[in-house]
Amino acid sequence: MTEALNITASAVDPGLLALPWSTPLAEWSSRDIVYLPKGISRHLVRFANLSGRVVAIKETTHEMARREYDLLGNLTRLDVPCVERVAVVAGRTDASGDPLPAALVTAHLKFSLPYRALFTQVLRPDTAGRLVDALAVLLVRLHNVGFFWGDVSLSNTLFRRDAGAFAAYLVDAETGELHEGGLTRGQREHDLDLAHTNIAGEILDLQAGGRLEGGTDAVTIADGIVSSYRSLWAALTDRETFAANESWRITERVQRLNALGFDIGEMSIQTTPDGTRVSIQPKVVDAGHHQRRLLRLTGLDVEENQARRLLNDLDEYRARSGRLDEDEEMLAHEWLTRVFEPIVRAIPFELRAKLEPAEVFHQVLEHRWYMSQARGVSVPLAEVLTGYIDDVLRHRRDEATIMGPATETMTLPIPLAEASGDDATGVDWRDLV
Ligand SMILES: Nc1ncnc2c1ncn2[C@@H]1O[C@H](COP(=O)(O)OP(=O)(O)O)[C@@H](O)[C@H]1O
Ligand SMILES: [Mg+2]
Repeated sequence: MTEALNITASAVDPGLLALPWSTPLAEWSSRDIVYLPKGISRHLVRFANLSGRVVAIKETTHEMARREYDLLGNLTRLDVPCVERVAVVAGRTDASGDPLPAALVTAHLKFSLPYRALFTQVLRPDTAGRLVDALAVLLVRLHNVGFFWGDVSLSNTLFRRDAGAFAAYLVDAETGELHEGGLTRGQREHDLDLAHTNIAGEILDLQAGGRLEGGTDAVTIADGIVSSYRSLWAALTDRETFAANESWRITERVQRLNALGFDIGEMSIQTTPDGTRVSIQPKVVDAGHHQRRLLRLTGLDVEENQARRLLNDLDEYRARSGRLDEDEEMLAHEWLTRVFEPIVRAIPFELRAKLEPAEVFHQVLEHRWYMSQARGVSVPLAEVLTGYIDDVLRHRRDEATIMGPATETMTLPIPLAEASGDDATGVDWRDLV
């Protein structure tokens, strides 16, 4: 008799039981599997259809799956960008009763791409710089909540477009450790060191495969994470001392952090016994300054830079309408229904899987700027939209989740290794994107 399956999940989806757990993941048929680009991994990871959404399934040991499941739960609770955990499936056996590895199930992160699938032919230094900057922000946020990653790399990160930049999400928490009391300097430096080594290796790998723009230096790119991390960490945590009559410095510090996308939850302010000097140091900082403001005003939940971009447009709208003292929330609602939504709705249905609405909006604004620059006059929005849809959007590939199993709707060809099911490591997307 076969043993019982043992499923751990916070919200049990009955669809989980319908997946072919008694078959090794490598042998799941294309009826269950969804073909999407993915990064290089140690374990076998494949995407499957679960009740109309896409999930990633990783085969590993029960202990490792459980550990990663718990860590992902904690990171979500601490509001750090990471993939959403779905379940751990253990106690799997095949038809003859032999044990199969446990599986960690996570939700596929919509509109996210592994770094190798983010560029078409070669990685250009500016794109590499933006990837590394996004990863530095993620690492700072992880360290800020006391998470030591242990395996920082581009492959263990997913990227979403964020108004011309990228937002990074942690995908592989297997080696992580959560230290509620915070990390020591040594632990942070260790992670940073690992990040530097791994990124240099990953970029050199691209170079070896002819996928790095000529003249670009892998180590310089990897150095970028260290400098980016250090300057952000310093901005968030450094103690600043100034004369007591320079108290505007406190406001300035808050504004500087806001501009970087952080809110101060708690700041320590100390004065010298004679009261002539003041020193300040942020104690609790939370990422998502612009995200929260936009969410509060409009209900839109988008990435940080997208939020910044949308808020700028909202502020412009407010200034244009000359109603600066009117209720901010009312104006935001008006902007949402008169500016944002019409643009998003104007995107033909068949093109909606290409980019997220907030990213489309950002690109339309960029396009308006380019068209107006080129003509020397401001171009009406309707014309900008047509131009953008036909000249830009139509030519992009889809970046939303490609829903299976109908392979004919796929935009990416099935890599041969994936099709034959033996792609445990290193699918090279060189020919695919
Ligand atoms: N929830 C997910 N959403 C999107 N992609 C995922 C998800 N989980 C895994 N992947 C993809 O699978 C790859 C390997 O996953 P990872 O957890 O790093 O495996 P390993 O522990 O074997 O290194 C990742 O680089 C990523 O591209
Ligand atoms: Mg990994």
